[in-house]
Amino acid sequence: MNQVHRGHIFHVAGSPTVHGATDALEYLEDGALVVDGDGRIVYCGAFDGLPEDHESWNVVDHRPGFIFPGFVDTHVHFPQTFAGDAYGGGQLLEWLNACIFPSESLFADPDFAREAAVKFCDRRIAAGTTQAMVFGSAFPHAQDALFEETRRRGLRVVSGRGVQTTGPDSAAALITSEDDAVRLVTEEIEKWHAADTGDVRTATLHVAVVPRFSLAVTTETLKNLGELYDSVRDRGVYFHSHLNENDRPGTGEVATTKEMYQVDSYLDTYDGKFLPGSAVGGKSFLGRRSILAHAVHCQDVELARMAETGTSISHCPTSQQFLGSGTMPWKRTIASGVNVAIGSDFGGGDEFLLTRVLGDAFKVHISEAGDDGISMHPAEMLFTGTLAGARALDMEDRIGNFDDGKEADFVVVDPRAWPPLQGVIDNGVRSDDPTMARDQTLFAVLMAMREPAITEVYVQGRRIDVT
Ligand code: GUN
Ligand code: ZN
Repeated sequence: MNQVHRGHIFHVAGSPTVHGATDALEYLEDGALVVDGDGRIVYCGAFDGLPEDHESWNVVDHRPGFIFPGFVDTHVHFPQTFAGDAYGGGQLLEWLNACIFPSESLFADPDFAREAAVKFCDRRIAAGTTQAMVFGSAFPHAQDALFEETRRRGLRVVSGRGVQTTGPDSAAALITSEDDAVRLVTEEIEKWHAADTGDVRTATLHVAVVPRFSLAVTTETLKNLGELYDSVRDRGVYFHSHLNENDRPGTGEVATTKEMYQVDSYLDTYDGKFLPGSAVGGKSFLGRRSILAHAVHCQDVELARMAETGTSISHCPTSQQFLGSGTMPWKRTIASGVNVAIGSDFGGGDEFLLTRVLGDAFKVHISEAGDDGISMHPAEMLFTGTLAGARALDMEDRIGNFDDGKEADFVVVDPRAWPPLQGVIDNGVRSDDPTMARDQTLFAVLMAMREPAITEVYVQGRRIDVT
């Protein structure tokens, strides 16, 4: 039977780029989202426009709640579930050494990893993150726990074990041999890719090939994983890693990577072009199921290559502030045509809730110098947290907004559950112009909501709850 969810509905309809998000913003003040028995959207429109035979349908009245598409986190670290707000006494490489490698090593204990999987899913549900590209643990049993718990809870995930074949002593427990690196990723793909339905087009569990970053693997690993990825690309397997995050002169990640790989651009290491002039080169990882996190310090040629290949950027402004990485230049990056989605990068970021991360995006981009500064439109923020993420995951035909036929992933945001939000809804100043008033309402909800305001979360039309 059809189920009708009644509320104040916001979504970015159709299939625009970020440039068209504002025109594509749809607001239904008294809206109805109708979901059929298979969990698909059969109607999204005015409540008083429901078909005449709707009297027999079950109506859930969420008013005064708002209904948004489920949020899509395109970069979040499962083995850092307990590593948020870790003090490392420095930027990226110091923090990895001091806090993250030791913290991720605790996942060697299967009980600890299982507990973390439960907590990780809880935090995702609390934040309304219905789909995510999850940077995985090095340990296969921890990845098993993540996929099992995700399935048990009715969430979606794309994930792969974080591969490391070289690194400092603090990462010793996370490092494998070259042979094991390929073997363990292959086994993960065979065990978990589309494991729930057997068909990548309907599955909720998908696997990615995830070298931690170029500095954590050898040229041999990149070559071998590139060949593996090339052989499974057609099966809808994903690629995920970090790119151009920290450029501290001399000792930062970007300089060290270029030095180690003897390349002009960091992206080359993922594009099969490492060690030019030597025999070592390989297959490219880039493509429309590839997501690279950060991309703060890209050259134009790198942005153009990502746009050309359909590779997406996961923009992580909360983490970029926490680790002093700088700011992905918004205008220049989107002008290149590359798809930019949002990522919490938890625990480099210290917020699971993507609207907080989008709020940080708003704040850092309005502060960019001179003509680079921009006041993001709330529709662009919503787009970046929903439809752009679906596109980055090559799942735009399934999720990301409330177009007919899509799978019904959505969240209910009830101001009554978070008094500061209720305050800005009831007493915030609104323009007399209806379009401006709509935009102000959307902005206020995105900026003022916190986890307690997310009172209900649905995936494929089914309600899921925090334990
Ligand atoms: N680069 C390599 N590993 C990591 C990580 O865990 N977090 C972030 N933010 N950057 C990385
Ligand atoms: Zn990260």
